[in-house]
Amino acid sequence: MKLKWLGHSCFIIEGNDKIIIDPFITGNPLCSEKLDNISVDIVAITHGHGDHLGDGIEIAKKNDATLVAIHEIAQYAAGKGAKAEGINMGGGVKVKNTEIIMTPAWHSSGLDETNFAIATCPAGLIINSGKVIYHAGDTALFSDMKLIGELYKPDIALLPIGGRYTMDAKQAAMAAEWIKARVNIPMHYNTFDVIKQDPNEFKSLAEEKGAEVIILRPGEEIEI
Ligand code: NI
Ligand code: MN
Repeated sequence: MKLKWLGHSCFIIEGNDKIIIDPFITGNPLCSEKLDNISVDIVAITHGHGDHLGDGIEIAKKNDATLVAIHEIAQYAAGKGAKAEGINMGGGVKVKNTEIIMTPAWHSSGLDETNFAIATCPAGLIINSGKVIYHAGDTALFSDMKLIGELYKPDIALLPIGGRYTMDAKQAAMAAEWIKARVNIPMHYNTFDVIKQDPNEFKSLAEEKGAEVIILRPGEEIEI
């Protein structure tokens, strides 16, 4: 499976299908990818904030891709002409050869033109497209991450470390210890000054707890 980080919480994975998660392309200072060059089968969204829903609806429409998100965001996207599948906590959907399951996340969320006018429930996603990926979304640390690890046995965990709006490095290291993924990759840091974080701090704290960490550069792709 190929996994590419486009900065912030945006990843493109190429497993059974090609999937973009939280496609914050426009306005993402870490992302050098051109919107027109993105070609995917599935667009997966953790929540309605602009730095996560991002260009998701436009990408789904352009690629005739299926957008997968919580019910209300899927309805909103469908209303704007995208092909969308709504799911909710603990449930999921199979799109092509990929299964996507929704997990809780502790955060807040909005989704309409004014962005914060409509609250929706933020989420994490388990994406099985050959390998199992846990994208934690924006979240605080919570002990049910142990359950998520036990239930889905993720190969790869994508964890926010930026602090301020999510877990910081110390909390994310504890999350990695609980989730027990084979590999942990930090996200949601250094995009903006308010979420400045040294990923090496996360790496050393997690590795002290026996969790392996790979730090990606924005735009870097790895085979995993
Ligand atoms: Ni958010
Ligand atoms: Mn965010």
